[in-house]
Amino acid sequence: MSYDRSVSAPEHELGPETVWHLQMPQIRFGRDSVEELGFQLADLGVDAAADETPHGLLVTDENLVDIGHVDRVTDLLEDAGYDVTVWDGAEREPSIENVDDCISFVRENEGEDGYDFYVGFGGGSCIDVAKGTRAVIANGGEVLDYIAEPTGGGESLTESGPPLVLMPTTAGTGAEISPVAIFSVEEKEIKEGVSSNHIRADAAVLDPTFTTTLPAEQTGKTAMDALGHAIEGYTTHPFDGLLRPSDPAERPVYAGRTGLTEMFSEKAIELLSGNVRTAVHNGDDIEARSAMLKGALFGAIAGLTAGASLCHAMAYPVGNKYHTYHGETIAVLTPATTLGYNAASDPERFASVAEMLGADTDGMGTREAADRARAEYVRLQQDLNVIPSGLTDLAGIEDDDVDWLATQTVETQQRLLRCNPRPVTKADAIEIFRDALHNWE
Ligand SMILES: [Fe+2]
Repeated sequence: MSYDRSVSAPEHELGPETVWHLQMPQIRFGRDSVEELGFQLADLGVDAAADETPHGLLVTDENLVDIGHVDRVTDLLEDAGYDVTVWDGAEREPSIENVDDCISFVRENEGEDGYDFYVGFGGGSCIDVAKGTRAVIANGGEVLDYIAEPTGGGESLTESGPPLVLMPTTAGTGAEISPVAIFSVEEKEIKEGVSSNHIRADAAVLDPTFTTTLPAEQTGKTAMDALGHAIEGYTTHPFDGLLRPSDPAERPVYAGRTGLTEMFSEKAIELLSGNVRTAVHNGDDIEARSAMLKGALFGAIAGLTAGASLCHAMAYPVGNKYHTYHGETIAVLTPATTLGYNAASDPERFASVAEMLGADTDGMGTREAADRARAEYVRLQQDLNVIPSGLTDLAGIEDDDVDWLATQTVETQQRLLRCNPRPVTKADAIEIFRDALHNWE
């Protein structure tokens, strides 16, 4: 039988999950860690001293070329004995066509075998294009072959390909460690993910010095994505509340929370909510930037293992139709979803979230304390000055638009809804979207 949502699902033959598993790229973190990129590649078996100099592709965007960050990386790679070609065509919220452009570039220049190594450098968009490109070059065909049916061919990736190292320049998406790459399918106004352990990078190099140039607005918005991962991961199903697949290969990449993911969630919520105001209002503060990058990494280790849920499920239809940034969409939807509708699933747990966000819940009942999480989070967003006040402010979304968005959510996002700690029908989704139109006046 197909793998269903939880042990409470009707009519299933499987028992509760008893096993959890953590798979991560190598992680190298800290100021000037980029200087160890050559060492990292050598450690992954890319030998700069080989008879033929290894030739890699660096996938990035034009902005990072313009501000000089790309030169810093390519100079370091060349000094370490590698040849590197730069492809700087990654677009914001990349489409399938955008990844196909990068794949065509690889095939035209290096043939079907592609490059000896790949580096993805930039925000989540650059990183996802790098992940998608390496995966398709290694497995053949085109991106659409590996997108789930009915949009794509539903084929599984069977090869990982040559080493891939990812270096984020934003503290947010967690794409550098995640087993998913997200692309938009423009003609259908949807976003789809390629989800597989084969698409995960071999190493992530996280250097906070690259994040100080990120403008206040993107700093705030990407931070809200990271905080979303941390809180969604902390409040999703426990792993043993899901079903154990008969074949371990069928265990989903979003497999419920564990003791390990909870530890990372707790620390991530504290680091992100405790430093985001400084990082937004004083971007040169390297200590705050470093704490944010660490918080985003911890949030991703937690949330992107345990599973993102309702908020992300609702964010994809919004982002695709209205072309909003992923982080700002998550920011606007979190109060009504993760901290609103879902709070009823486990008030005690949400009361703990309120405290991690800095709320004083002394003397409150559990349900009231759980609701404080939402209020504290909204206050944080107001303090940042860069977050829209709701879906209407974000993209002019009104009551009339809610039905379409709710339909898209329940019809296309079951991968994420499966993990949500509270069941969601279309009627629920309509009410939640309405709730998210205005988070404050
Ligand atoms: Fe996200």
